[in-house]
Amino acid sequence: MALRTVSTAVFLTSIVLALYMQRASSSEVNVSQTQPPISDQYLLEFVLNLEYLSAEFFSCGANGRGLDATAPQLTKGGPPPVGGRKANLNPFFQDIFSQFTLIKIGHLRAINGVVKGFPIPLLNISKELFGKIVDDALGQTLRPSFDPYANSLNYLLGAYIISDLAPPGYVGITPQLQNVAVIRAYLYERRNYPVQPYGVNVSELTDRISELANRLGKEGTKSEGIVVPLSQGAEGRIEGNVIGADNDSLAYGKMPGELLRIVYGTSDEHVPGDFYPKGANGRIARSFLSRGT
Ligand SMILES: *[C@@H]1O[C@H](CO)[C@@H](O)[C@H](O)[C@H]1NC(C)=O
Ligand SMILES: *[C@@H]1O[C@H](CO)[C@@H](O)[C@H](O)[C@H]1NC(C)=O
Ligand SMILES: *[C@@H]1O[C@H](CO)[C@@H](O)[C@H](O)[C@H]1NC(C)=O
Ligand SMILES: *[C@@H]1O[C@H](CO)[C@@H](O)[C@H](O)[C@H]1NC(C)=O
Repeated sequence: MALRTVSTAVFLTSIVLALYMQRASSSEVNVSQTQPPISDQYLLEFVLNLEYLSAEFFSCGANGRGLDATAPQLTKGGPPPVGGRKANLNPFFQDIFSQFTLIKIGHLRAINGVVKGFPIPLLNISKELFGKIVDDALGQTLRPSFDPYANSLNYLLGAYIISDLAPPGYVGITPQLQNVAVIRAYLYERRNYPVQPYGVNVSELTDRISELANRLGKEGTKSEGIVVPLSQGAEGRIEGNVIGADNDSLAYGKMPGELLRIVYGTSDEHVPGDFYPKGANGRIARSFLSRGT
């Protein structure tokens, strides 16, 4: 019990410290002045929004049911997600994503154990939304639309979209990013596979999705596909990019406002949309909304 508490505290503290380090090292000094008052609790609550999103995506994909069925005590009366469905997974990925669902439930329980939390926000994880995001990433309207639930490869790409646009951990060293690395590794193994029936392969699609995240975030290159130009790879010496990271191979940090610009799909942290049609919950996200235009 004692051991468990310590490891939970270490795990949570690493998130909070990472956020502070990013704020301190950010060159956008004025950004912090326009941000709401931040405390550890609020930052952890902010992370809860992102954990809820990936948990619902995995729970629906693996079980055909959201957290309201798989872990009702964690949703605190919030609504079920819009458009989640059972993915057409092969036995291997059925197993992997069942594991991911349970891992996410553990993260949610850990965070909910130390912050007051809030009811799960309304989440849109419909195939229509993923279709729109892929269209935006590729700059064309695909026919038929991309459907993340159609097969194992599409679902892996859906998981890439969620983990790239809404990364739940801020630092590479937190346990939370382990499943992001697993998703990237499976996609890297499949980097030359075509994404049917479109004339695009896995490598190119991940690259375009990460470019979309960078465009929406408006803070430079902080997301990278699974294959990059040599100069952007680790030590400038390799094209494979199974861990997306900066020139020192440290994970890119993203601030709350930047993350909201991306997950709302509006490039504006004051204007909700996409995964969070009514906005994210918690003090930080709500304060952007209440001061919105
Ligand atoms: C902060 O904002 C002030 C006033 O808008 C501006 O003069 C200053 O250059 C900004 N500082 C930074 C680091 O952007
Ligand atoms: C979910 O996203 C799709 C695609 O953007 C949109 O058509 C639909 O209205 C959204 N649903 C909600 C409840 O926001
Ligand atoms: C995948 O797409 C990229 C970008 O279009 C291209 O450079 C690469 O050759 C493609 N790989 C295969 C195996 O077709
Ligand atoms: C990272 O390395 C690339 C290639 O050497 C360089 O163009 C870029 O400016 C570097 N970025 C930073 C933040 O140092």
